[in-house]
Amino acid sequence: MKVSVKVPATSANLGPGFDCLGLALPIYNTITIEETILPGTGVEINLMSAEEENIDEMIFDNIPKDENNIVYKAVELLYNSIGQEPSELKINIQSQIPITRGLGSSAAVIVGGLMAANKLLGSPADTTALLSIATEVEGHPDNVAPAILGGFVMSSQEDDGSIVYRKLDWPQEWDITVCIPDFELSTNIARSVLPSEVPMQDAIYNAKHLAMLIQAVNTKDEKLMKTALHDKLHQPYREKLVPGMREIMEAFKHEDGVLGCVLSGAGPSILIISHKYDLDKIKSTVQDIWEGQSFKADIRTLKIEPKGAEIVE
Ligand code: HSE
Repeated sequence: MKVSVKVPATSANLGPGFDCLGLALPIYNTITIEETILPGTGVEINLMSAEEENIDEMIFDNIPKDENNIVYKAVELLYNSIGQEPSELKINIQSQIPITRGLGSSAAVIVGGLMAANKLLGSPADTTALLSIATEVEGHPDNVAPAILGGFVMSSQEDDGSIVYRKLDWPQEWDITVCIPDFELSTNIARSVLPSEVPMQDAIYNAKHLAMLIQAVNTKDEKLMKTALHDKLHQPYREKLVPGMREIMEAFKHEDGVLGCVLSGAGPSILIISHKYDLDKIKSTVQDIWEGQSFKADIRTLKIEPKGAEIVE
């Protein structure tokens, strides 16, 4: 039996929502799991890029293709949760989501693997259980939650390990421009520069801005959103890892119609939220800044993906 799951990309944090906000985007990975009948073949993991020209061989080569692969780890946890061990599995990952760019490629493959394996097992796990396992593998729920649910999602892993999540309505008229540079930044490195403790004033700053952001989204309040999209818990520390980030943020700071400019997840991609603003101007400004530092960029204005992961075959 073979199951394929199509999973959207995600952008986590949105500035002040560090480790708890994320939204789904219409770029997809498809994960196919096949239970093979031949015993002793173990796990086989194949990675393919859907767009040949975007293959980055170096990155693909560095991804484990055995039991250390995060997809396999997630699948194994699911099997173990019902007292089983995975059988011989062939896992195919067809990837459109750029890797190590802050667009949830790891969350997508974890979620895809879990949903496919869950179907193969007769659907023993519900959404909350899948979210819980995905969070255990990923380390935080902010990408896996919108990858499973679609849309704009707040999520939290509570002290007892349980996951609390709610979907919020993203104002459709707000444009999301994703600026993806041609340099990579691994989440591990981007988390390693964060301090283990932060000043109380910075924690208060983020609590205030996250509260503003939720209210701004709920009431489509653009003025409030422009104030809300600021963060002191992760972006200031990551700035040194993302060339051009400060310049891009500065360029749009005082532009009416640009509600904010934030790191997508752990970066290095940058998300620009705007309303009735010249999207070509966003593109050319970002391109000029990165090109000035010898980087190329793939810049796309996208609608939020309302649907989460779905079984396609
Ligand atoms: N919230 C996470 C981070 C997202 O910023 O490190 C990265 O996957």
